[in-house]
Amino acid sequence: MSKRVAVSFAAMLAATVATFGMPAFAADEPITPIEAAKITNPGLVELGKKLYFDPRLSKSGFISCNSCHNLSMGGTDNLKTSIGHNWQQGPINSPTVLNSSLNVAQFWDGRAMTLQEQAGGPIANPGEMGSTHALAIEVLRSIPEYVQEFKDVFGETKITIEEVTKAIAAFEETLVTPNARFDKWLKGDKKALTTAEVEGYELFKDSGCTACHNGSAAGGNTFQKMGVVEPYKTNNPAEGRIAVTKEEADRFNFKVPTLRNVALTYPYFHDGQAATLTDAVDVMGRIQLGKKFSPDENAKIVAFLKTLTGDQPSFALPILPPSTDKTPQPKP
Ligand code: HEM
Ligand code: HEM
Repeated sequence: MSKRVAVSFAAMLAATVATFGMPAFAADEPITPIEAAKITNPGLVELGKKLYFDPRLSKSGFISCNSCHNLSMGGTDNLKTSIGHNWQQGPINSPTVLNSSLNVAQFWDGRAMTLQEQAGGPIANPGEMGSTHALAIEVLRSIPEYVQEFKDVFGETKITIEEVTKAIAAFEETLVTPNARFDKWLKGDKKALTTAEVEGYELFKDSGCTACHNGSAAGGNTFQKMGVVEPYKTNNPAEGRIAVTKEEADRFNFKVPTLRNVALTYPYFHDGQAATLTDAVDVMGRIQLGKKFSPDENAKIVAFLKTLTGDQPSFALPILPPSTDKTPQPKP
């Protein structure tokens, strides 16, 4: 009886939605559209943008956030694993910063809960920017335009690492990518996708990919085993989520990456081993779902994935205030 009531309520709701012409996408599709970011504190975002692009936050004066999360290249470096301070080869693939505000946690193993917590890491990571928080702050304090801008934004002149990471995180929150062709299709523009792309989406859903790649980011919201049906072969030493939880059940669980802008964020997987989307889809089908896609099916899924590229961040390149005689010199 109560079931019947629920059904008729749903029917009523559907009728109401139809009457008022509201889009009916969200309720019945596993992937939902991304909405543009709402900027509440433009001064903070502008400061964060400068810091994001400023290589003087690194010891060498050469590496900025943008070196490894290049906003001209989908927020990644398109390398298997990143190059850090002194040309060190990093241990793991650099995920995109695009839509990272939608992630349940940051890093492949989720060891940072927020973007602000994450942003403190790379500056002082010897293999990434190779600096220390103290040195980065000393650099910023030596530049009067920065001192003034921090004062305008935070109302004081000290400059702290908390302020630096807060500003960078605020900038990162603006790096969402709405208006992908797929989103236009979800919102009712049925001409936004080709037949092959729609078939690819159907295959993606029917095969079970959306069990893990769902929500507005098509991923980013859970940790899952890499290699559900058969083990993933890799020389990369990363063990995944177990590094954080110490739970044996979390061994080789990784944060499911967002598939938004996935056409731009090659190579794929935490070890960067899949050079192409064709490879990545083949591996996912086999080891996560026990499915061998035909070349035609694979091509359709790839065609669908390419419709997830949204509007890329668009702004004037920030012009950074020059160093002064007091600014600590870059060091090897
Ligand atoms: C991870 C931002 C500098 C390489 C991340 C993530 C964010 C981020 C948000 C997590 C994304 C996710 O888990 O989905 C930043 C910011 C930087 C910065 C704001 C500047 C302060 C760098 C640099 C490099 C780099 C300079 C390369 C030398 C990486 C790598 C990861 C990562 C390899 C994955 C690490 C792991 O999961 O263990 N970064 N990043 N980042 N970033 Fe950066
Ligand atoms: C990674 C697609 C099914 C969990 C990826 C990537 C792609 C992809 C393209 C690489 C993204 C990147 O590195 O930026 C697909 C497709 C699927 C599918 C087409 C269906 C055939 C699944 C399922 C799960 C899952 C069912 C969960 C059981 C993951 C995880 C990663 C990943 C954990 C990261 C693995 C790592 O790098 O170690 N997927 N996926 N995927 N996917 Fe899937």
